[in-house]
Amino acid sequence: MKKILITGASRGIGFALATKIADSENANFHLIARNEARLLELKAKLESQGSIANIYPCDVSEKNSFQNTIKLAASKARNFDIVVLNAGISENKWIMENNYSESFERIYRVNVFSIAYALEVLASLMAEKGIIAIVSSLADVRGFLSSSAYCSSKSAVTRLSEAARIELKRIGIDVLTIKPGFVRTDMTAKNRFPMPFLMDPGKAADIIWRGIINRKKIIAFPFPMVLLTKFIALLPNWLFDFLSSFYKQNGV
Ligand SMILES: NC(=O)c1ccc[n+]([C@@H]2O[C@H](COP(=O)([O-])OP(=O)(O)OC[C@H]3O[C@@H](n4cnc5c(N)ncnc54)[C@H](OP(=O)(O)O)[C@@H]3O)[C@@H](O)[C@H]2O)c1
Repeated sequence: MKKILITGASRGIGFALATKIADSENANFHLIARNEARLLELKAKLESQGSIANIYPCDVSEKNSFQNTIKLAASKARNFDIVVLNAGISENKWIMENNYSESFERIYRVNVFSIAYALEVLASLMAEKGIIAIVSSLADVRGFLSSSAYCSSKSAVTRLSEAARIELKRIGIDVLTIKPGFVRTDMTAKNRFPMPFLMDPGKAADIIWRGIINRKKIIAFPFPMVLLTKFIALLPNWLFDFLSSFYKQNGV
């Protein structure tokens, strides 16, 4: 049985991924999120499918607590074959809104710092040829309006995982970067703007799991959104600024 740690497992992509894995094989899961009741629900579901599941209610933005939780899980699992660092948050906030910097800090602590906290301890807690998959986003491509914290946090995650991929390869660990487009979860339910190629979490989980098994360095999807974001990346600043000026403060 593969020993698999997933953060942000209580809902959305993390929940769907754990369920997808358990559909295809029995695994020994170690699941982290803050909501214990949701984790218990997932544990029951996975165990009814024949897997083993251990849950760890924990806030990944609290360094000591998160690192100790990872160490505790590793001691039970005797090291992980696969780790998916998926926990993340987004908040739409304009720079001129109240409490902008509080929101910015919150997002960075969960989306960026938690990855560093995890990587620091995981390097010595992985099984031979282990995999660490880090969830970034196609939103890393540019600074979109009202999402300066989220987009820049995901740019940081993409670059962080790129460097980690090269560094940790030297000790036999494969680091993969996952870059989803829009997926239908609690995170996107609050968005008031058009979300092209919005995908169900089950389908996203399928693509992510296939990419992990194949040790694909960058798991970016869906394809039309990958193309669109590549195009957006190439836009000259004057055109990106011009197009952005059509976006209204409360959505389009
Ligand atoms: N949905 C999309 O369109 C999309 C697109 C690109 C990338 N992503 C990325 O995919 C990942 C998962 O997103 P999602 O759409 O599945 O979001 P979601 O449905 O809101 O789920 C987020 C998960 O992260 C956990 N989490 C949040 N803050 C946490 C904290 N401080 N400590 C521990 N766990 C925490 C949540 O659990 P608790 O609340 O129980 O703690 C939940 O399980 C994120 O990194 C997100 O940025 C999502």
